[in-house]
Amino acid sequence: MKTRITEMFGIKYPILLSGMSWISTPKMVAAVSNAGGLGILATGPLSSTQTREAIHEIRQLTDKPFGANATLMFPGAAENARVLLDEKVPVINFSLGKGDWIVNEAHNYGGKVLATVVNLRHAKRAQEYGTDAIIATGQEAAAHGEDVTSLVLIPHLAENLQIPVIAAGGFADGRGLAAALALGAEGIAMGTRLMVTKESPLHENYKKLAQEKQVYDTIFSKRFDGILCRVMKTDAAERAIKKGLSWPAAFFNSRDFAKMVKMPHSKLVIGILLSGYSNAKQLAYMANAFKAIRVATEDGDSKTGVLPVGQVQGLVHDQPTVAELFERMEKEAQNAQNRIAAALS
Ligand SMILES: Cc1cc2nc3c(=O)[nH]c(=O)nc-3n(C[C@H](O)[C@H](O)[C@H](O)COP(=O)(O)O)c2cc1C
Repeated sequence: MKTRITEMFGIKYPILLSGMSWISTPKMVAAVSNAGGLGILATGPLSSTQTREAIHEIRQLTDKPFGANATLMFPGAAENARVLLDEKVPVINFSLGKGDWIVNEAHNYGGKVLATVVNLRHAKRAQEYGTDAIIATGQEAAAHGEDVTSLVLIPHLAENLQIPVIAAGGFADGRGLAAALALGAEGIAMGTRLMVTKESPLHENYKKLAQEKQVYDTIFSKRFDGILCRVMKTDAAERAIKKGLSWPAAFFNSRDFAKMVKMPHSKLVIGILLSGYSNAKQLAYMANAFKAIRVATEDGDSKTGVLPVGQVQGLVHDQPTVAELFERMEKEAQNAQNRIAAALS
């Protein structure tokens, strides 16, 4: 397969692993890159020291190109991004913030930068300051899409941008890949589908649940982590969303978060309080959401855990290896192409 994205990154398939907290770990990143895609490490739950160690681990597991993300709204994300630049990570993917300084520094060593966006305004801004390509997240996606679906968002962005568009949200097989290319994308990023593979560290309880649930079984709400977020519909998720933000729980969970990113709790709390009410509220939501996602992904806890998931879970029916999945997707995309060619002839 050949698109501007396979050429830009030197990869076989125009398929990226989305940077998913607790899922896109060094082993998972290496599995995707070794299978011919581009693995993207999720640094959200990592301290700067752990981020550096994770990069070293990936380099031991693969000599193929790989990337790492920085979700700029998360505490500690800017420090992690500085580690990625220092380590000259080939591809840096930023989201939920302005990444102009990342673009400037990555270009100094020949690195490429991807911005994850949900609308044209953010995409254009990223293009203006030199971002190499964008990941466009449609409403179907796990976690943070907005109100436009991939079917409309991809052609809308493709016809208004010069840089390549990578489609995310709603892609699980070769039919989806062919559809994304037909709409003007140059590749796809997959979260939910790759989360249910043999190499994925997602707890088996949730791998099973993701295969049982249908396309209808998700909830899209601002009441889980403060911004529109899609999660798997379970009793625990419904309870969390009904309850909304609990400040006492946020104070308690922020201790876990501080420990996780190796930051003194007092420093984290003071930083949050000084950032203004709306920012503090957002971070309080995030502290609670992080706890719920961690216990779902790592412990398989379905009583208090909540898992971000895309509508595409209803198209996931098995647990292949990443290499098996990519080979199958290539055949499915070719079959889709043949069907379309026959229909149009
Ligand atoms: C378990 C899980 C954790 C995620 N964590 C993050 C994250 O930390 N930062 C982020 O920008 N996106 C995160 N996402 C969203 C993905 O990066 C991606 O946008 C989404 O999975 C694409 O849609 P799809 O699931 O339909 O493929 C997460 C998704 C899942 C399923």
